[in-house]
Amino acid sequence: MKSVDISNDITKILITRTQIDHRLDQLAAQISHDYAGDDHLLLISVLKGAVNTLVWLTQKMSIQAPIDFMSLSTYGSGTQSTGSITVRSDLTTDVSGRDVLIVEDIVDTGYTLTWLTDMLKKRGARSVKIMALVSKPARRTHPVDISYLGFEIPNDFIVGCGMDYDEKYRNLDCVAVLSPSVYSKKK
Ligand code: PRP
Repeated sequence: MKSVDISNDITKILITRTQIDHRLDQLAAQISHDYAGDDHLLLISVLKGAVNTLVWLTQKMSIQAPIDFMSLSTYGSGTQSTGSITVRSDLTTDVSGRDVLIVEDIVDTGYTLTWLTDMLKKRGARSVKIMALVSKPARRTHPVDISYLGFEIPNDFIVGCGMDYDEKYRNLDCVAVLSPSVYSKKK
């Protein structure tokens, strides 16, 4: 297979994997403390971008909790949230009476998390909290209470650690700023 050099596609590395690991150590310890003894805890991860964050976080947690997945889409293939949510696949777990911790890669406008939090409460979740690897407060149109946040970041288009542009760059082992030359090429 032809190897691909992506260094030209990246403007700069915003957060290194070492920084991510260190921050996730802290958040995993806090979450393990806060939910210790809670048999109702359920981790819900929003596909696809949050997979890396879920794996890394749960490996660092000292408590056990079931996980479930929901597949949503807000971005399509562009660089801006469209504001409309598509449910690609639903949960398999009954959330009624559960203490749900949503694990996300990024909170951008906040639309997805606002929608998901409301939906989980309507389904009878006992509590709903949010963990996110990164947050872009400058983009927020829907206020979101993030209980466990990795990093606040500026309003750059970022990729890596599960986050993509047009399904590419999810496998980057850091959070990096995508060069505008990449997405301005797309018609
Ligand atoms: C990203 C991210 C969140 C959402 C946040 O998902 O994983 O779910 O966007 O954006 P918002 O705060 O503006 O609602 P995306 O739609 O890119 O899908 P993906 O995870 O499959 O890449």
